[in-house]
Amino acid sequence: MLTNFINATYIAAGLMFILALAGLSRHETARKGNVYGIMGMVFAVVATNFAIAYRDYANHNLQIDAAIMLYAALVVGGAIGIWRAKKVEMTGMPELIALLHSFVGAAAVLVGYNVHLEAQGHADALHSIEVFLGVFIGAVTFTGSLVAWGKLNGKFASKPLTLPGRNWLNLGVVVVIGLLGWWYLATGSIIPLLIATVLSLLLGIHLVAAIGGADMPVVVSMLNSYSGWAAAASGFMLDMSVLIITGALVGASGAILSFIMCKAMNRSFVSVILGGFGDDVAATGERDYGEHREASAIEVAGLLGDARSVMIVPGYGMAVAQAQYAVAELTDRLRAQGKKVGFGIHPVAGRLPGHMNVLLAEAKVPYDIVFEMDEINDDLADTDVVLVIGANDTVNPAAMEPGSPISGMPVLRVWEAGTVVVFKRSMNAGYAGVQNPLFFNENSVMCFGDAKATAQAIVAALPVGVSG
Ligand code: TAP
Repeated sequence: MLTNFINATYIAAGLMFILALAGLSRHETARKGNVYGIMGMVFAVVATNFAIAYRDYANHNLQIDAAIMLYAALVVGGAIGIWRAKKVEMTGMPELIALLHSFVGAAAVLVGYNVHLEAQGHADALHSIEVFLGVFIGAVTFTGSLVAWGKLNGKFASKPLTLPGRNWLNLGVVVVIGLLGWWYLATGSIIPLLIATVLSLLLGIHLVAAIGGADMPVVVSMLNSYSGWAAAASGFMLDMSVLIITGALVGASGAILSFIMCKAMNRSFVSVILGGFGDDVAATGERDYGEHREASAIEVAGLLGDARSVMIVPGYGMAVAQAQYAVAELTDRLRAQGKKVGFGIHPVAGRLPGHMNVLLAEAKVPYDIVFEMDEINDDLADTDVVLVIGANDTVNPAAMEPGSPISGMPVLRVWEAGTVVVFKRSMNAGYAGVQNPLFFNENSVMCFGDAKATAQAIVAALPVGVSG
């Protein structure tokens, strides 16, 4: 009876997770999707609670110690989760996600060892395979996610680590892990499992360290997929249907998202999942692009006064400066003066997919003037002024040439416009660590300063216009 209740609740949780994914696929239904996800999680926790605390239900035995441990973990984990989620800035979201993936990986490793120790070397072949695969995927996910977390928050350099023969190194490690798996299956000894864990941890570090900054969005979604497979492996080890269902859902959807992102960014999917396999472009050294020109906020206001069409291209810097409200006000003012204003959004602008769209929606910028990169790229040549607000890699013409770490990545061709004004604080490179020749073009001017303060100063300098 209790077993039926637990299984039914697990299935209901699985269904909720499927509905959550369906809801999250469109922003009109995303809120509903989130609610389904929360309900699924509540069902899963309730059922797990019963499964653990009433493990010995047949003998009317409540497992007090197990229940106490479960609730203690729930309270501590829940409190940390609420604290972090409340504190995190939108710009810090990808790092938090990467860190959470590392927990899933670590959990899979711990579950694997637990199952191994419980079996005391007498596990059947299927269980041994589950343990070995779970520990392998979990360990790679754990360290890979930690490196991604460090790269995203700037603790580690975003440049790819290019060890000589790195692809052979990865292949060699995978082959050795395979042999260790065979040894483990044959003997059930913990030694091959321990060696494989260390090698998998190192492999996770190397796979992600070898990937350059510009490909990090794909890496985060790929680690999302790995964490799903790690959870599914734990589900097999623990004989827990809900973990298998959710793990497979996360694993498959993460893989599909990674594939779509690779296509959108013109990257090879195989290259990214294999830690930059075949991607042997070394970062080009600093080149002298000549002098840049500067303009003050008042001069930019004058430029905008003469323009008939303006395209705004936001990036990570707009998010950091929280400049979206000032930019929305600037947009209103320009539109009130009868100018054609639009926004051009790059698919990986900012630090998470849809980052710019969310910020602009928050500042009540009308949806119908916000365009995706492909919708707008061909119109840039007919635009009088482009305002690049805290964007860098996503407008870098170096991507159109071979030999750069971002070669092949699609970019907004802002340099085709009449004049390009770049809002940033310095001449520093963007996230990918690549210099941007756009800043030195004849038709580019740099407007230095914090993006919010600059946008506000331009609004103040603009004459109050009437539509018409
Ligand atoms: P970036 O290339 O990172 O450039 C942002 C620019 O904003 C920087 O050059 C910085 O220059 C400027 N900035 C920072 N704070 C500012 C402030 N307060 N005021 C004004 N400017 C400021 O941004 P992007 O063009 O949006 O490109 C996104 C990059 O992030 C891509 O390389 C992408 O691959 C990567 N990435 C994206 C994602 C997703 S999924 N979207 C996830 C992870 C990584 P200064 O320091 O000189 O001010």
